[in-house]
Amino acid sequence: MTDTRDNRESSGSKVFVYAMIFSLGLTLVFTLVANMLPQVQGEAPSEQMVDLGSLTMDDFIALGKDLFENKGTCTLCHKPAPLGRAPDIEGADMVAVSEERLADGRYQGEAKDAAGYILESMVDPSRYVVATWGKKGTNDAESPMPAVDKPPIQLSTVEIDAVIAYLQAKDGNEVTVSLPSPEAAAETAAAAPAATGAPVPAATADEAMTKYVCTGCHALDSNDALVGPGLLSVGARLSTDEIRQSIIDPNAVISEGFPPAMPADFADKMTVRELEMIVELLAGKK
Ligand code: HEC
Ligand code: HEC
Repeated sequence: MTDTRDNRESSGSKVFVYAMIFSLGLTLVFTLVANMLPQVQGEAPSEQMVDLGSLTMDDFIALGKDLFENKGTCTLCHKPAPLGRAPDIEGADMVAVSEERLADGRYQGEAKDAAGYILESMVDPSRYVVATWGKKGTNDAESPMPAVDKPPIQLSTVEIDAVIAYLQAKDGNEVTVSLPSPEAAAETAAAAPAATGAPVPAATADEAMTKYVCTGCHALDSNDALVGPGLLSVGARLSTDEIRQSIIDPNAVISEGFPPAMPADFADKMTVRELEMIVELLAGKK
């Protein structure tokens, strides 16, 4: 970020000048970032641009926290015991934990430092599986965590860095990732245009399952358990009504052998059509 843009007043002519200075892609990414940062939401668009032209490390960390809780879906699994289906990485100092992992004889990865370990955990989770947290029946050789740079979560490199910055900063550790370069920021904008506006209703059952990250916790093409039961033949196991109930009121009936780890707020987030498309798809899986 250059320092000539330190003025936060938002006159129309300044915004115009900024628009000229930034490439279109860069402007787009800052609007994208503006939409994700809770504290800028709702302000006039002209101010958003000016503020984000001077994206600070604090903004980047706040973006990381927002990604951790929302788009990244990390808190679906990573929450304190007994509800957590994954280690409580928000409650632990992840820099200290990472150093322990790197020193563990079982560690086979390529990371050299805490940031590298956190990154590897996100993009290649099976490289090192935290003891007792592996996929059932794999003796901790395979992680049930989805790679977060792939669908359905699909964070960009810049977004992954923001999450790392957040995990380092929340316990007062030094942040070792850098703010995105304009080029990287523009790439993010190009790669993730869908993430800008309000959520778009899914058009198909598959899209809806991706949007709500069902596939992060459930295999659709097998009956093997990930975090939740495999759904290959769920239609043979449960009636249509039971499937609907297990999505909108998951704690009403808990599948045997599983913890009550399924998010309970789908009913607030889904459109009726999205819900019914998913129910129909799952009911047909016999
Ligand atoms: C579907 C559930 C799930 C989601 C979603 C998920 N994780 Fe995980 N994660 C796990 C599980 C289970 C483990 C423990 C097994 C392992 O080591 O891979 C884990 C391990 C980790 C570890 C290593 C923890 C340690 O103590 O060494 C990190 C770091 C991590 N996850 C970060 C994230 C981040 C950041 C996100 C969101 C962008 C995320 N995870 C999303 C399930 C999940
Ligand atoms: C954070 C992980 C997680 C996410 C995300 C998740 N589930 Fe689940 N789901 C579970 C767990 C754990 C269970 C078993 C415990 C229970 O019944 O609540 C379960 C149970 C179910 C069941 C009952 C299966 C059976 O055989 O009894 C259905 C159906 C289901 N989920 C569908 C969905 C759909 C559809 C979505 C996306 C809209 C979804 N789940 C998202 C974890 C998750």
